[in-house]
Amino acid sequence: MRTQVAIIGAGPSGLLLGQLLHKAGIAAIVLERQTGDYVLTRIRAGILEQVCIDLMDEAGVGTRMHKEGLVHGGFDMLFKGERHRIDMNKLTGGKNVMVYGQTELTKDLMDARAAAGLTTVYEAANVQVHDFDSKNPRVTYEKDGKTHEIQCDFIAGCDGFHGVCRASAPRSAIREYEKVDPFGWLGLLSDTPPVHEELIYANSSRGFALCSMRSETRSRYYLQVPLTDKVEEWSDEAFWQELRLRLDPEAREQLVTGPSIEKSIAPLRSFVTEPLRFGRMFLAGDAGHIVPPTGAKGLNLAATDVKYLFNGLVEYYQDKSEAGIDRYSELALKRIWRAERFSWWFTSLMHRFPNEGEIAQKFQEAELDYLIHSEAGSRSIAENYVGLPLDFGH
Ligand code: APR
Ligand code: PHB
Repeated sequence: MRTQVAIIGAGPSGLLLGQLLHKAGIAAIVLERQTGDYVLTRIRAGILEQVCIDLMDEAGVGTRMHKEGLVHGGFDMLFKGERHRIDMNKLTGGKNVMVYGQTELTKDLMDARAAAGLTTVYEAANVQVHDFDSKNPRVTYEKDGKTHEIQCDFIAGCDGFHGVCRASAPRSAIREYEKVDPFGWLGLLSDTPPVHEELIYANSSRGFALCSMRSETRSRYYLQVPLTDKVEEWSDEAFWQELRLRLDPEAREQLVTGPSIEKSIAPLRSFVTEPLRFGRMFLAGDAGHIVPPTGAKGLNLAATDVKYLFNGLVEYYQDKSEAGIDRYSELALKRIWRAERFSWWFTSLMHRFPNEGEIAQKFQEAELDYLIHSEAGSRSIAENYVGLPLDFGH
């Protein structure tokens, strides 16, 4: 089999790249280790920046998102028992974010891919990438007891943090930066109306909490928990009780509880790989970097990596120029480091750190007090939260 771009991974990165390439008349095959259903059961964040919304539109898959997504012009920060609104819309000259679950976005991309009759190989086992240091890269995989080979011009490593592409890059050519936080997020999804019409980020002496949502009838809540906690030890009742204790009196009063549909603990990690290109293989999305979830940058960064890579590939095929693919890694990494910085900072501002003592919370509260009372401070949070423009600082 031959194609122009072999895409490894059918998460949001791989599917979005596939759809954009299809629109531009560039052929691609997507290889995915799991089944499509499995990919759709992974619950992840769901806050889209404007650039991500625009990309869904550019890929021709924005209809349901615009119909069902909830537009948010602000969010609340809760500390010392009081809530304060960050009016993102006003502070950024009219920018918003949209609440639309990653699973919904993935489903729209999968449906569009199927409708266009494009090839996605699910349950592709033992995917291996070869010869990406030459002009004739190859990908092999096993399916139904047979080994298959795809010859291609480029390999797009969209295979997430545990994928094969980054692991196949020569160790001497790669540098990895990592920081793992000493706590996790316990998440709970429930078919209950959200406690508030916008998100609430809570700094409490008991630890961080986040009130988020997927729709007007489905809520997503998170609690900071020690990494040693096991999800089985957290009954729904214990979760709701702890969440109440981390909220302000009004939210506590308004919180509607119900049975969980999903509950899981995720670690918090900052991780960046440099570079994102190895010959004719590129890394995009979680394959190249992970952000801690505070600020919901993961999906948005994946989408903008894909946009830079897509632009480079279009330039290669349409203008016969390698300038775009040559700049991919540098351009993407600039935006990645900015979002890594913001996500790390927002995490540091809102969580309890073991061993840092009460003075650390006093510092956080003083910083929060400064940020919400200073227009410059509030604007800095707002402009990062809604997402920096694709050409910021270029
Ligand atoms: N072969 C084929 N597919 C693979 C392999 C492999 N060896 N390894 C991993 N995959 C697949 C995974 O099964 C997964 O479906 O690659 C896909 C990667 O998808 P994601 O992990 O969702 O990564 P990405 O598409 O970059 O999306 C990033 O996901 O983790 C969130 O916060 C993150 O929202 C962001 C988004
Ligand atoms: C979520 O809804 O899952 C979510 C929202 C905002 C975040 C992180 C996660 O900062």
